[in-house]
Amino acid sequence: MTEQKQMVIGLAMFGAAGLNFRSWMDPAVKLEKYPDISMDIKAAQIAEKGKFQFMFFGDFPGTKATDNGDMQTMGLDPLLIATMIANNTSRIGMGITRATSWSNPYELARQFKTLDALSEGRVAWNAVTGANGVSANAYGVDLSSSFDRYGKAGEFVQVVEHLWASWGEDALKLNHSTKEFADYDQVKAVNLKGQYVKSSGSLPIPPSKQGQPVIFHSGGSQNSIDFAGKYADVYVGEVWTIEQGKAMRQALRKAAVANGRKPDAIKFIAGVMPLIGDSKKDAIERHATLLDDRTFLQRVAHISYVLGTDFTPADIEKPISADILDAIEITPYSDPRTENVIKVAREGWTLREVVNHSVIDYHPTAVGNAQDIADHLSDWFNAGAADGFWVMPDVYEVDLSRFVDEVVPILQERGVFHKDYEGETLREHLGLPYQYGVRGEE
Ligand SMILES: Cc1cc2nc3c(=O)[nH]c(=O)nc-3n(C[C@H](O)[C@H](O)[C@H](O)COP(=O)(O)O)c2cc1C
Repeated sequence: MTEQKQMVIGLAMFGAAGLNFRSWMDPAVKLEKYPDISMDIKAAQIAEKGKFQFMFFGDFPGTKATDNGDMQTMGLDPLLIATMIANNTSRIGMGITRATSWSNPYELARQFKTLDALSEGRVAWNAVTGANGVSANAYGVDLSSSFDRYGKAGEFVQVVEHLWASWGEDALKLNHSTKEFADYDQVKAVNLKGQYVKSSGSLPIPPSKQGQPVIFHSGGSQNSIDFAGKYADVYVGEVWTIEQGKAMRQALRKAAVANGRKPDAIKFIAGVMPLIGDSKKDAIERHATLLDDRTFLQRVAHISYVLGTDFTPADIEKPISADILDAIEITPYSDPRTENVIKVAREGWTLREVVNHSVIDYHPTAVGNAQDIADHLSDWFNAGAADGFWVMPDVYEVDLSRFVDEVVPILQERGVFHKDYEGETLREHLGLPYQYGVRGEE
């Protein structure tokens, strides 16, 4: 009998009370001060109760809320939030984003190895290039071309991995009788100079329980896929349909093979925004309480654009006519969410209800009761469109709790999600081998 493959689940965390910008106003949240790290810690503990393998922290330094009603999501440093979380959890892994375009490799190598050692091997670095002009300005750097950004990112990862390996694996002695703390002959300085980054020196930190941090990557371009083929263990992506997910996952597997690695060496993690309720209608009505009028009108305008029509206020409470939907031709240049707009509209919902399905959003939504959400995850997973998911509940206190209490048991019952952690480290949760040293040179 072959063992059934199981999905990986991660919780998105962007430093707020949930993934909805209005999460702070949900009656269950009662935010009375800011910052309030207790919400993040509690969310991590709920996710850990649900056996999530990891949390995924985005990082967009310098950005501010775009609307007065939106919660400030990117003020606090995610690495420090993760440090607090590590201290208040015991199993869940933490994938933390830091962009290579404006970070320093020695500082990054040191911070991530420190947290990995202190958390007993539960850390990943999400090595993105970063293409956000606001963040670049805040750091005082100019954004370069994709070629240069990925050129720098490749050198950056190599320098970081060499620094991580600069403390020999068996260097620590702690020998009371010989009074030998460490064998410092095994602590070697690196001396690396590339076109974009350089570092000479050593990083005197022993390996963690998993060796060294896991490497995540997020992006979208061919350069990003090639980068992941060389350096990443996990690719955290942005796709809206099963077909898009399959294509992205296949491209990553091919990129791994092109670099002498096994296709399974990279896990593709698709995003999903679960809108959970007792029914689809209940779910979208709850979600609508967190959408403001400005966002609602922007979404109507975008759906008008996607469907090549010009909706007026009189159309908002009516279903979208089949004539409009039949006339849409999907091309490679279409908005990647077009198919989802059409699919939901064909179910007969009014334009308002189509908007409230969040068909125009950063990631696809799974809408309905626990069974509906579990179906979305199982369907994508079984179709080979993802190895796992990073979930973005509107409000941790409410929607994450429901996901853990209601959706997770269904997935476990179906055998597509584990019932407990298989090990203690993030590598063990992801089925990755212990790694210490530069990939391919361990
Ligand atoms: C799922 C996902 C998450 C991302 N998270 C971040 C982030 O937290 N911080 C950041 O600066 N950029 C982030 N990015 C942006 C990427 O760094 C990258 O600049 C962008 O996707 C453009 O892709 P490309 O560089 O491959 O063209 C993210 C991208 C994706 C797809």
